[in-house]
Amino acid sequence: MENKAPSSIISIEDSRKLSIAPMLDWTTSHYRTFMRELTQHTLLYTEMVTTGAILFGDQERHLKFNEVEANVALQLGGSDPEALAKCAKISEDRGYNEINLNVGCPSNRVQSGSFGACLMAEPKLVGECIKAMQDVVSIPVTVKSRIGIDDQDSYEQFEDFIGTVNQVSDCQTFIVHARKAILSGLSPKENREIPPLKYDFVYRLKEQFPDFHISLNGGVKSLEEAEEHLTKVDGVMIGREAYNNPYLFAEADQRIFGDTSAEPVSRHEAIKSLYPYVESELANGTYLNHIARHLLGMFQAVPGARKFRRHISENATKPGADLNVLIDALDMVADQSLS
Ligand SMILES: Cc1cc2nc3c(=O)[nH]c(=O)nc-3n(C[C@H](O)[C@H](O)[C@H](O)COP(=O)(O)O)c2cc1C
Repeated sequence: MENKAPSSIISIEDSRKLSIAPMLDWTTSHYRTFMRELTQHTLLYTEMVTTGAILFGDQERHLKFNEVEANVALQLGGSDPEALAKCAKISEDRGYNEINLNVGCPSNRVQSGSFGACLMAEPKLVGECIKAMQDVVSIPVTVKSRIGIDDQDSYEQFEDFIGTVNQVSDCQTFIVHARKAILSGLSPKENREIPPLKYDFVYRLKEQFPDFHISLNGGVKSLEEAEEHLTKVDGVMIGREAYNNPYLFAEADQRIFGDTSAEPVSRHEAIKSLYPYVESELANGTYLNHIARHLLGMFQAVPGARKFRRHISENATKPGADLNVLIDALDMVADQSLS
């Protein structure tokens, strides 16, 4: 792959200006490797990995990443400071650039493990978790939270959460999904849609803690919207839109990071640049669909997009599916540069 010289990697602090959210089953190593064809500077997050999965599971599988993904933050799920510290150290040794603690996931499975969003009720413990990790790694340790949970939903309670975490750990980097989580009665999907977005909580937080890095997350669908938020906060994290419409990141290096040397690639170029990776992965036994499924959103509103998607969906799962499936799919869709 081209354009991946380490010198092109900006600092983790600078890359936080725009990030792609951790998303289970979506932000896999294959997805992240592909996103590097579109943007070099955007900070990428892994899916959440639990401490149990790292300490007692298939570490190789859970922590697999490709060096071209940098800067990449590993998101951990857990609430035991000692276990988190062990996992943070293992992850730093593997080359991750940041460790992030999940304080936002509302799923029942996560709640029964007493981590994720329910940790918003335990700011001191969150601070202890962060501190335990900071003590053993030299990379940044950050928090991704909601603005509240259930009836703990006032601005004062949110500010108190952030303030306490900071007092205990000195953590100064917070990524905030700007809606509260409702811990019973809503599915994780509903918890990303039903509680209203309250961007003003995040803007106020930045005013209150001007020295902190505050990233805003939730409902951002374009670089224009990101630019607007960036007038009030330090960073913007994009989730679903980064998956459903990955090409929006083709302009990110220029527009958000001001890198005038970064020429946006065309959709076709981006996919073709991935071919050597696809071939080496196939040779190692990866199924084509595990990579190709992440490309389905690439041609939104481009003539032929439906044929492209259908060809991949119907053929990439077949036994022995190889690069020709992608090559043929690409022939079905118009090559357009940035519109
Ligand atoms: C499929 C999916 C999986 C997700 N998995 C995680 C996760 O592992 N950790 C996490 O902190 N948030 C997770 N989220 C939440 C996102 O990181 C993000 O906070 C949320 O989608 C709101 O941002 P958006 O409106 O830009 O999508 C997930 C979201 C989706 C859609």
